[in-house]
Amino acid sequence: MNKIVRAEGLCKDYPLPKDILRVLDGINFELDKGDFVAVMGVSGVGKTTLLNLLGTLDKPTEGRIFFDGEDIFSGSEKELAELRNRKIGFVFQFYHLLPEFTSLENVSFPLLIRGKGRSEAQARALEMLRDVSLEEKAHIKPGKLSGGEQQRVAIARALVNEPKLLLADEPTGNLDWKTGRMILELIQELHQRKGLSSIVVTHNEKVAQFCNKVYMMESGSLKLLPQL
Ligand SMILES: Nc1ncnc2c1ncn2[C@@H]1O[C@H](COP(=O)(O)OP(=O)(O)OP(=O)(O)O)[C@@H](O)[C@H]1O
Ligand SMILES: [Mg+2]
Repeated sequence: MNKIVRAEGLCKDYPLPKDILRVLDGINFELDKGDFVAVMGVSGVGKTTLLNLLGTLDKPTEGRIFFDGEDIFSGSEKELAELRNRKIGFVFQFYHLLPEFTSLENVSFPLLIRGKGRSEAQARALEMLRDVSLEEKAHIKPGKLSGGEQQRVAIARALVNEPKLLLADEPTGNLDWKTGRMILELIQELHQRKGLSSIVVTHNEKVAQFCNKVYMMESGSLKLLPQL
């Protein structure tokens, strides 16, 4: 089985006051293990909606999603939460770190949620902070970090549980290009070193150039673009 994710006939509707908005209209999509894929498309086209479905943060109106061959919405909510915690790492445009906690604590949380003890969680979180070259900022809170540093902490948090799938929604959208490029190089390096399969949502063609496949989303469907 070389497909990590497979989506079949994915549809997503949102209610409007007098109508429904069909954002995804029968998407079929496969992600090979080891793929580093970009999803592009104009604002409002449904990129985040798709990522949220693939990440099990939301459910499709129609269609199915298979993770490692298993239909993810056929299990219980508990199984879904476990899949999300153990196998999927998320990185967002605005980092979404908890402001009251240090970098180390933020990176430790996915391990504590998983049931690891405090000292093991801290040791592994510190190792992960080392992977993003931020161990010296381990005891600092997000408010005192730069945007690029906050995103590095968020990447460490996303990967601390050794997920199989990394989903990044505009990970460089809030950063200048020099910092953004550094973040992408870091994601690319960790993608390879940790054997991840990754999807990066972006508006930016420069970001897409880091990826080995580029999809364009348009009118509810997804098209694979010829290699750049
Ligand atoms: N919870 C919701 N309820 C109703 N409509 C929604 C909801 N979430 C998203 N939408 C609508 O669905 C469409 C797609 O939104 P989505 O956030 O997926 O777009 P996007 O491609 O990620 O855009 P951007 O590039 O601006 O982030 C938009 O028209 C949006 O208004
Ligand atoms: Mg979006």
